[in-house]
Amino acid sequence: MTTATPAALTTEQLGFLARAVSRAPSVHNSQPWQLRVRGTEVDLAVRPRTALRRHDPFGRDRLLSCGAALTDLELAVRALGRDCHVEYRDGGDVVATVTIGRPRPASARDFALYHAIPRRRSHRRAFFPGRVPGGVRAAVTVAGEATGVHLVEPGRLDKLAELFGFATRVLRDDRGYQRELELWTAHTHGGNAVGDGIPEDALSPEALPVAGLVRTATPVPDDVVLAGRPAAENLLIVCTDTDTRADHLAAGAALQRVWLTATVKALVGSVITQPLHLTGFRARLASELALPGVPQAIFRYGHPAGPAAPSPRLPL
Ligand SMILES: Cc1cc2nc3c(=O)[nH]c(=O)nc-3n(C[C@H](O)[C@H](O)[C@H](O)COP(=O)(O)O)c2cc1C
Repeated sequence: MTTATPAALTTEQLGFLARAVSRAPSVHNSQPWQLRVRGTEVDLAVRPRTALRRHDPFGRDRLLSCGAALTDLELAVRALGRDCHVEYRDGGDVVATVTIGRPRPASARDFALYHAIPRRRSHRRAFFPGRVPGGVRAAVTVAGEATGVHLVEPGRLDKLAELFGFATRVLRDDRGYQRELELWTAHTHGGNAVGDGIPEDALSPEALPVAGLVRTATPVPDDVVLAGRPAAENLLIVCTDTDTRADHLAAGAALQRVWLTATVKALVGSVITQPLHLTGFRARLASELALPGVPQAIFRYGHPAGPAAPSPRLPL
């Protein structure tokens, strides 16, 4: 019996994969990935010159972004009706290789997640009031569970609000940080624009003080108002057992599964990592909220109160 090797993808099919990857969320919409194709193997590499020295000094958000892109890549391969295997790489600029296998029909779940890719976007404004029902929250949470990754609904929301207030005050006055942010928010105009960076109209002055990105004019509400904000949201903290490159990729991949699952359920959300990069914040968050590991990202989600502007993408 001969076992035929899986067929390489056509140019059209590769375009299909590239489009799905390009719609992944990324820190400051920097789209820090690159695809390299070798027959039936697709490498996901970190794109050079996408470092954010102030927001992401250790490149962990860049890896989280690549992890999110990896989820899109895997879902797109499966939606094409092909099996695949994902392997993380330990060193170098290639962070993972996706090996495309034999024909295999996509599961209904993978297909639904794949179709949510173009509909997902960051909603940084307040949500429609009301908590998401417990059963739906459980489904969103479980979508991100993976080996070494935990999705936690935080308790101690008073502590969280206090930490957010502290972070907002520090970030507002950090001139180096604000200069870098200005560069990533000044030049892009949303809609169908082509490029990277965050459009002004995708940001929000409302909701949690750090639901969008803290800028020089971001107001810090008083303690009472602040304390009520996390309680009005549905929050999940993505934690990992350890803090390696593989953990960052796995956290990003899990975050995107959670976000796409929320999208399938007609929910919207946004990610907060900005305060996690402040010295001491991550450790305080872990200890004061008794988290089961290293916090990598906070996902806030709920029912949409209105539309959100799409952000641009670099040409494929
Ligand atoms: C790892 C990571 C960190 C992010 N951190 C923040 C953040 O702190 N604040 C924020 O408003 N958005 C954050 N985002 C969302 C990105 O800014 C957003 O995905 C990007 O601008 C593209 O827009 P879209 O999500 O609407 O496609 C983050 C996204 C990722 C993947």
